[in-house]
Amino acid sequence: MPDTRREEFALPPDCHYLNCAYMSPVSRRVQAAGEAAIRRSTVPSDIRTEDFFSGCDRVRELFARLINAPAPSRIAIVPSASYGLSAVARNTRLARGQNVVTVFHQFPSNVHVWRRRCEAVGAEFRVIRPLADGRPDARTWNEAILEAIDGATAIVALGVVHWTDGTPFDLSAIAARAREVGAALVIDGTQAVGAMPFDLQQIEPDALVCAAYKWLTGPYAIGAAYFGPRYDDGEPLEETWMGKVGSEDFAGLVEQTHRYRPDAARYDMGEAANFILIPMFIAALEQVLDWGVDTIQAHCRRLTSGLVREAGHGWASQGSDSGGSGTVGHLIGLDVPDGVDPGVLQARLAAQQVFVSVRGSVIRVSPHVYNDEADIEALRRVLWEAGALRAGL
Ligand SMILES: Cc1ncc(COP(=O)(O)O)c(C=O)c1O
Repeated sequence: MPDTRREEFALPPDCHYLNCAYMSPVSRRVQAAGEAAIRRSTVPSDIRTEDFFSGCDRVRELFARLINAPAPSRIAIVPSASYGLSAVARNTRLARGQNVVTVFHQFPSNVHVWRRRCEAVGAEFRVIRPLADGRPDARTWNEAILEAIDGATAIVALGVVHWTDGTPFDLSAIAARAREVGAALVIDGTQAVGAMPFDLQQIEPDALVCAAYKWLTGPYAIGAAYFGPRYDDGEPLEETWMGKVGSEDFAGLVEQTHRYRPDAARYDMGEAANFILIPMFIAALEQVLDWGVDTIQAHCRRLTSGLVREAGHGWASQGSDSGGSGTVGHLIGLDVPDGVDPGVLQARLAAQQVFVSVRGSVIRVSPHVYNDEADIEALRRVLWEAGALRAGL
């Protein structure tokens, strides 16, 4: 790819936006799709019956291709990660005496729902911490997760990488262990899918949920979720009419069919056909596929690998992610030096038009294809002044 795809975005020239893990900027291509969609909404007679289904089906097809799902019919349209995870939780068996395995400081959308279910049935909610204090060590953390999965585990729910600092989880090993004990593996792919390779048929989770507005480069308030065969007879959160067999026949809707559509479509949110967000989501998925996930990851890795070295982190070369390379380039966490307030450092960065996030005690840096060395250099200058980088590297 070229050094940067910045011209495909409308970011101001002096804005060093290194925060895709917070929210992706909408590209010109996605913006154009949204604007066309709004224009079309001004004349509803242009919205045909088949449009209620064709947009969603296109999202299913593109997302299935991105994650290598066995079939587009396995993909549901969701408004958020928490919605998808709630639908999964409602349909995953959990009983008193069993446990749910999650990881320390996981994103709340993948925590509350499990904690609540555990409380409701009297199951144990297991939060697996990294073994060492301070910088997590991916290898030993993954070992601890594997050890925590036992015969009483009903559900393992975690991300592909940790959302605060990119620590990769060894999903192949975790999936194998979950299968061995019969536990459901539920993955929140929001901070990884679209930015790094993810092969669903290799990992075989039971469910995978992704919000669109980060690495899928889509708009806010929409996402996609894979539901495996474990959920084929499940109950959705909403009884949307579009999730029923025969709903394509508008004249026949008065007949009130109660049978759900097969596979994942039953889990679609109400009004999934959203005539503004769906065209934007389609444009976003198409652009990610056009750019290529490998290329995106390689570009991000080129940008962040020097920073990781200069920050003196050993963790980034440990563990193994689902791409098999052992590190992720699109999302890294830099320790804030002792005595420096992370919030103050973030404000100093923002004053220089450098945008990152503080999550816990780390500065999270998450570039994308619109970033280049100049953005990293602007970040580096402020971090250097704050004493967060080491000399001579
Ligand atoms: C790992 C992860 N999952 C999900 C989300 C978004 O969750 P939701 O779509 O429920 O708002 C975020 C947002 O930061 C996240 O980091």
